Amino acid sequence: MTDWSAKNPYTSKLTENFVLNGEGSGKETRHIVFDLGDSGLEYKAGDALGVIPICPPEIVAELLSLGGFSGNEDVETNLGMCSLHEALSTRYEVHRVTKKWIEGLGSRVVSGDGPIEIRIVSRERVSTSDGATILSWRGSGSDEDLPTDYSEIMSPNDPAEELWNKLTSDSKSMEDYMWTRDYIDSLRDFSNVSFTPQEFIDGMDRLKPRLYSIASSPEFEPGTVHLTVGIVRYSYHDRNKAGLTTGYLSDRCTVDDTQIGVFMSPTRSFILPENGDADCIMVGPGTGIAPFRAFLQQRDLNGDKGRNWLFFGDWTESGEYYYKEEMDDWKNRGILNKHDLAWSRDGSEKVYVQHLMRKNGSEIWDWINGGGYFYVCGDKSRMAKDVHQTLIDICSEHGGMSPDEGKSFVQDRMMKQEKRYLRDVY
Ligand SMILES: Cc1cc2nc3c(=O)[nH]c(=O)nc-3n(C[C@H](O)[C@H](O)[C@H](O)COP(=O)(O)OP(=O)(O)OC[C@H]3O[C@@H](n4cnc5c(N)ncnc54)[C@H](O)[C@@H]3O)c2cc1C
Ligand SMILES: NC(=O)c1ccc[n+]([C@@H]2O[C@H](COP(=O)([O-])OP(=O)(O)OC[C@H]3O[C@@H](n4cnc5c(N)ncnc54)[C@H](OP(=O)(O)O)[C@@H]3O)[C@@H](O)[C@H]2O)c1
Repeated sequence: MTDWSAKNPYTSKLTENFVLNGEGSGKETRHIVFDLGDSGLEYKAGDALGVIPICPPEIVAELLSLGGFSGNEDVETNLGMCSLHEALSTRYEVHRVTKKWIEGLGSRVVSGDGPIEIRIVSRERVSTSDGATILSWRGSGSDEDLPTDYSEIMSPNDPAEELWNKLTSDSKSMEDYMWTRDYIDSLRDFSNVSFTPQEFIDGMDRLKPRLYSIASSPEFEPGTVHLTVGIVRYSYHDRNKAGLTTGYLSDRCTVDDTQIGVFMSPTRSFILPENGDADCIMVGPGTGIAPFRAFLQQRDLNGDKGRNWLFFGDWTESGEYYYKEEMDDWKNRGILNKHDLAWSRDGSEKVYVQHLMRKNGSEIWDWINGGGYFYVCGDKSRMAKDVHQTLIDICSEHGGMSPDEGKSFVQDRMMKQEKRYLRDVY
């Protein structure tokens, strides 16, 4: 059997690709199904699928045009020689400019004839409950999510050379500059720089596959892999942009037609309890629902006696209640024993999964104290941190422990020793 991998991916096709959101939703989250055909690929609930994107052809074409290339020029890449067109399409990430590439412009940056206008958009810095500061890049398209802090670091008449000096001597400016720009934006800013085809790609990031938590059990959905994919879209410098892979899957992958490279990324840790009698608490807002759909399918098929409790949520009930019918069916059949839903934008106050956890603290502690498993999937930078702290608080309060003992119980005992606090966060 072929050993499919990131370097030797299986060429799959989609059998389904549809939007899960209700009408009027500000998000685009898709249910995407890959056909495993005769690949022999196997997986278990909890595994992830690797997807290899192809860069947007219109961006590749515009880059070639801005650089004055035909695309047939030979270039050296980490995977050997190929045409510049091939390199920009399948070997480099053309949608986000890198520090290395800007630094590499070096002495080739000369002051040009015309004035250039540069506006730098700073990222919003947000403090989380555990005191960490993270950089927000929410891509919802809602005004609420857009950065508020605009700062001009250049006067409108500064030439490219000054911009380059400023960016390469000030890491914060460089970070803020790069965040909203791709190579098309930068080539417009540095329009007087000339490149050889090799110089054009040197310093670009190599194209990397993206992982997606699998949203199906292989026995429940034989021969296929289901994903729940949040499409990344945002707009800067008068151009609409998309995530490399999510844009590819949403905009350029047609059911039964497009050939897409995929491979399995098995997990050793994010697995169901061996003992089907164990209870499972699952916290998976947004696309974090994916592996829990797989878990519920698998527990249903297994006839596991352990109880299941799902904390899910997203912006609104009407727009983002993914897999509602399946959840209702599981509830009616007694597979999903408890189901708590946190809608963050339905009311005047944000309701998050951890708020509902706190309300149910005593019962969560009972499940955990009885040997239950606790799973978290989804956003790493905010949600998973807050859920982690909430779990510690619940164990301390309801388990009669001091905050330090609660922390040690959750981190040392549940997580490390007993491996029943498991996370799939990104
Ligand atoms: C183990 C694992 C499991 C995962 N499972 C899932 C899953 O089930 N479902 C899912 O949807 N994703 C999942 N992901 C995330 C997924 O791998 C990708 O990271 C995600 O889909 C984005 O990929 P992309 O190529 O479309 O975007 P990229 O091209 O990589 O772009 C994403 C980047 O865009 C930038 N960006 C986003 N919004 C803005 C904005 N408003 N302004 C400026 N920049 C912005 C950010 O820098 C962000 O890092 C998982 C990740 C891991 C590691
Ligand atoms: N939108 C994108 O650009 C995009 C696309 C794909 C993947 N991703 C990343 O993939 C992950 C999942 O994204 P997603 O769009 O499925 O869902 P998400 O952004 O994680 O949002 C799901 C829900 O979590 C809420 N939330 C925000 N902060 C929270 C916190 N501190 N604690 C608990 N809940 C919180 C959100 O509320 P509010 O938003 O109302 O605060 C929303 O109701 C995240 O890492 C996300 O950053 C983002």
